[in-house]
Order: sequence, then structure tokens, then C-alpha cells
Amino acid sequence: MSKPLEGIKIIDFTHVQAGPACTQLLAWFGADVIKVERPGSGDVTRTQLRDIPDVDALYFTMLNSNKKSLTLDTKKPEGKEVLEKLIKESDVMVENFGPGALDRMGFPWQYIKELNPKMILASVKGFSDGHHYDDLKVYENVAQCAGGAASTTGFWDGPPTISAAALGDSNTGMHLAIGILTALIGRDKTGKGQKVAVSMQDSVLNLCRVKLRDQQRLDRLGYLEEYPQYPHGEFSDVVPRGGNAGGGGQPGWVLKCKGWETDPNSYIYFTIQGHAWAPICRAIGKPEWIEDANYNTATARQPHIFDIFKTIEEWLADKTKFEAVDILRKFDIPCAPVLTMKELANDPSLRESGTITEVPHKERGSYLTVGSPIKFSDMKPEITASPLLGEHTDEVLKRLGYSSAQIANLHKQQAV
Ligand code: COA
Repeated sequence: MSKPLEGIKIIDFTHVQAGPACTQLLAWFGADVIKVERPGSGDVTRTQLRDIPDVDALYFTMLNSNKKSLTLDTKKPEGKEVLEKLIKESDVMVENFGPGALDRMGFPWQYIKELNPKMILASVKGFSDGHHYDDLKVYENVAQCAGGAASTTGFWDGPPTISAAALGDSNTGMHLAIGILTALIGRDKTGKGQKVAVSMQDSVLNLCRVKLRDQQRLDRLGYLEEYPQYPHGEFSDVVPRGGNAGGGGQPGWVLKCKGWETDPNSYIYFTIQGHAWAPICRAIGKPEWIEDANYNTATARQPHIFDIFKTIEEWLADKTKFEAVDILRKFDIPCAPVLTMKELANDPSLRESGTITEVPHKERGSYLTVGSPIKFSDMKPEITASPLLGEHTDEVLKRLGYSSAQIANLHKQQAV
């Protein structure tokens, strides 16, 4: 089956997570992605948090599937020459080096554009160009702090908290992928490439949009009625951490189920959807609350929302998280068990849909990865193993017109 991005050639000059997540996605959808790596070491994640000695770490294999690997020291003249040839024949170059690294290497945007006016250069940086922090190197958690996620995540009586979800890294990569596809469509119309830049701070902030909504509501009203601080606690002049409160107009909380005393994940998320109040009352055995004026509107419920959650927890006390959801789903109540990574890894539905997929790898045997979360009616992305370091160097050089003797010579000059 032909894939929509087949024929799109991408120079993947990325490392760690933000850039690789972007190019991996494009590779799944058919792009020819060549990862350019430093000879001898390659992407740092190849060796980070290894679980098997001398074999590419899962950190690398799970972010670099479906790619080719070309080793090239782009600071040496021969390496620069290869990169120039690649730029001339490619559609997109993606990079997430520290600020200024590409310029120092001798490949500023102006020069890349001269080499190939149709080129799309896609960059991830911690902060956007011109920002007062634009000289900073940035990793995931730094971005979560700078983008508003940390100050609004966690509990009000604890410190700012980092989310396990890669809001700074993979999320920025997904934003960049959208930017690249947009620039490719734009290029079809104009014939010209362009530079696409995404900052990690901006991408985190984009996902914290509702917290900026809340800041403006707080400025105007002095309180936020869906936060646990309302109406009994205090508000300052900044959006507080709301624990497990829902971010929208539907109150919700993480509630204990049978076995929570020994199993730290025996919980469900329960949402009190305004118009589902009657089914909720019927589900939890409180039909008398349906018409009770203390309960039958969202405004009436809010002052004692935690007493309501406590009552629901009493109902949940003899049900596992899975049993509870099986009952509540019949009443159309938005809820889910709190699932562990172990449960997700073995979830038959996720295996069936390809969201969790097992990939054979030359050196480590097979490993689990997260496949495409985007599903298409006419295409099923097939996930193949990440490349070994330099696995495709000769293949790519041949394609660029190098003879066997020239390739052997290049290897000698590039040796670390
Ligand atoms: N050949 C020769 N040199 C290479 C090379 C290659 N194939 N690949 C990388 N390099 C060089 C770079 O040009 C750079 O040179 P410099 O000495 O001029 O700075 C050097 O390696 C280091 O690159 P850098 O990206 O700064 O690595 P780092 O390990 O110091 O920093 C980050 C890592 C992630 C903090 C930094 O890259 C960064 O801030 N990136 C932007 C934000 C980002 O994507 N962060 C999230 C990562 S998940």
C-alpha cells in the first residue's frame, strides 16, 4: 500500500526526544527519513537508561523507528560536503540542536535556502527566537516549568509538579510535524520552502490554554468555582494547582476503589457531567438526590462536591476499578480506570489497534513501542525497528553518487 508521505525526503538532524518524535511520526506515514548522527556515538539516547549492555536503549528504539541512520561528522569538510548534497536533494530538514549550533556548524537558514530554495527547515528550540531566554538549552521539565504546566499541576499544598506526559518534548514534536505538513502544502502552491520553528515553551503553553482562560476569569472574579479551593478555601491572584479537578465545566476527581489500601492504582476517574445527574444518582443508589434542591443543579452541588465524591467512594468500596467502570458505563457516565503501564502494555484492544505494538530488532530481540495514535481508513502505519548506528551510511552515500572507493575514503576521514 502506498503511503501519503512516500517520496518526501527528510534529513533528520534531531536527537533526544522532541525532534525524533516528530520525524518518527512522518516516517510512519511514508517519508524517507535519514537520521544524521555523529560517528562513534550517535544520538545520546542510544546509550541512556540502557536495560541491555551494549545494545541501543529503549529510549532510542521507541523514538526512531522506520528511519535510516547515516553517520556523518558535519563539522569536518567531507561531512559538510555530504550534508550539502543531502540538502540539495531533500524536502525537509529537521533539527533540535542547542541555540545557534546549526549556524556554528556552517548551515544557517540563509545558506540552506541558497542550496535548496524548496527546502523546509524545521527547528525545535526551548524558547522562540527573540525571546529573552532564547539562548537557553532546554529539556522536558524545564519546558513544563516555563510553559505554565508545572505551576498548575499537582496539589495546592505541594510544590509545582511535572507531568509524566512529554508535554515539552513529544508534544513539541507533534506541533512541528503539523508545521512541516503545512509548509509542504504551502510549497505545493508557491514552489518555495520556508523555515518552521516551534518552541517547547509555546507548545506547552498551547496545551495549558485553559489555565490562561482561568487566569483571566480569576482576575475578573477572584475565584474559580470548579477548583477544590472553592468555596471554602482561599484564592491568591494566580491560578492555583487544582489537584485532580476537571479542567472544564464538569467536576471530576480520582476516587478510591476496592483494594486502594494496597494497590496504589486502584482508582477510577469519575466525572459529574451536569446533564447526567439523574443517571449518576441511580447508578450509585441515591435516587433521592435527583430532585433534592441541595443537589439537582451544578451550583447547588459545588459547595459540597467533596461530600458527593465521598459518597461515591463509599459506593465504590466493594468494587474493583474495572467492576466500577463496567457498571457506570451502562449509565453513560464519563469515567475510566486509572491504568498502569503494565495494564496498558497488555491491553488487548491497544494491541489489536496497533497503538501498542511489538517490533523485532536486530540486536535486542523484540520490544514494545507505542504505534501510531492516528488511525486512517486507507492506511495502517507499519512500525519497523530503529536503525543501528550508521546502518544505512553506505546506502545513502551510494544514492548521493559516491563510488565504493570514495565511500571507503570517507569512512577513513570521518573515523573518530
Ligand atoms: N557532527 C558534528 N557535530 C555535531 C553533530 C554531528 N553529526 N551533531 C551534533 N553536533 C554538535 C552540534 O553542532 C553542537 O555543536 P556546538 O559545539 O557548536 O554547540 C554540539 O554537537 C552539541 O549539540 P547540542 O544540541 O547543543 O547538544 P547538548 O547535548 O549540549 O544539548 C539539548 C542538548 C537538548 C539541551 C539541546 O540540543 C537543546 O536545547 N535543544 C533544543 C531544545 C530541545 O529540543 N530540547 C529537547 C530535547 S528532547
